[in-house]
Amino acid sequence: MDDRLVTAAKADDDAQYEAGLRPRVLDEYIGQDRIRENLQVSIAAALQRGEALDHVLLYGPPGLGKTTLAYVIGNEMKAPVRATSGPVLEKPGDLAAILTTLADREVLFIDEIHRMSPTIEEILYPALEDYELDIMIGQGPSARSVKVPLQKFTLIGATTRAGLLTSPLRSRFGIVHRLEFYEPSDMNEIVRRSARILGVPISPEAAAEVARRSRGTPRIANRLLRRVRDFAQVRADGTITLDVALGGLKLLEVDEYGFDEVDRKLLRTIIEKFSGGPVGVSSLAAAISEERDAIEDMYEPYLIQIGFLDRTPRGRVATPRAYEYFGLTPPGRDSRLW
Ligand code: ADE
Repeated sequence: MDDRLVTAAKADDDAQYEAGLRPRVLDEYIGQDRIRENLQVSIAAALQRGEALDHVLLYGPPGLGKTTLAYVIGNEMKAPVRATSGPVLEKPGDLAAILTTLADREVLFIDEIHRMSPTIEEILYPALEDYELDIMIGQGPSARSVKVPLQKFTLIGATTRAGLLTSPLRSRFGIVHRLEFYEPSDMNEIVRRSARILGVPISPEAAAEVARRSRGTPRIANRLLRRVRDFAQVRADGTITLDVALGGLKLLEVDEYGFDEVDRKLLRTIIEKFSGGPVGVSSLAAAISEERDAIEDMYEPYLIQIGFLDRTPRGRVATPRAYEYFGLTPPGRDSRLW
């Protein structure tokens, strides 16, 4: 599919189920304590000096709140946020049109910033460093470059893959933060907060269960909560008890680890088709008919984090825990019994 369509579809999807649930200020933001504290200091300092906040790069797996944080930063800076994304910025004029109309201290949020084209990136350098645009006028011998001054703005870039950013771009961000998967206690709090906002009664045990199966990812927690709420409404009396939550999660085929069909297929394929690995990510992607990017961005990070998958120089390897999950004996175990 066209990149822009994917991006638009994703944004649309998110907007629907996240609407109203996102925290608007740092005080409402749960988890990522270190980032929150650092941002609090940077923002307070910028406000005191009456300056724009330094450019911010946020990276980490999808669904952890990069976009949310960008809007929170905008709110805290009392500045509007203009949002776009790397693949949408096709022509230099697209970016120039945005940059030249940014107000003082306004926030420009570029999602998937690693997918910006090199030409666009070059326009961004002087804009970030000196708040000016270098525009070429005319062609051939009479061509000349004109500098257009810009207002002092803040760029917030978000990416799932900081490694794909060029180093000149990366070095122009004064504030760089990596978002981590959320702690179980934070996930619990997020589920309870979202349930409160949605006005759905949920028992503490049910909230803990939804939290536990959300892969340390608020976006997943909010999505599961909405589906379990539907289940409670249609199959019960509207209250999410533990039984109701378990029933809803079973219907969704979300298991105890929060794995879905693709996670299970991915692990099973490494174990069964590739003898546990190592297997290159492209071969794996082909074997399970998924995009390589989706595997690297969405599925792998959590499987690695909880110790089901190892990323080695020769490829991906299923760990003994992955074998045990399927009730299989990890290779090498048998010999120890002898
Ligand atoms: N909803 C999504 N992410 C959240 C967070 N980090 N804190 C509070 N609510 C959230």
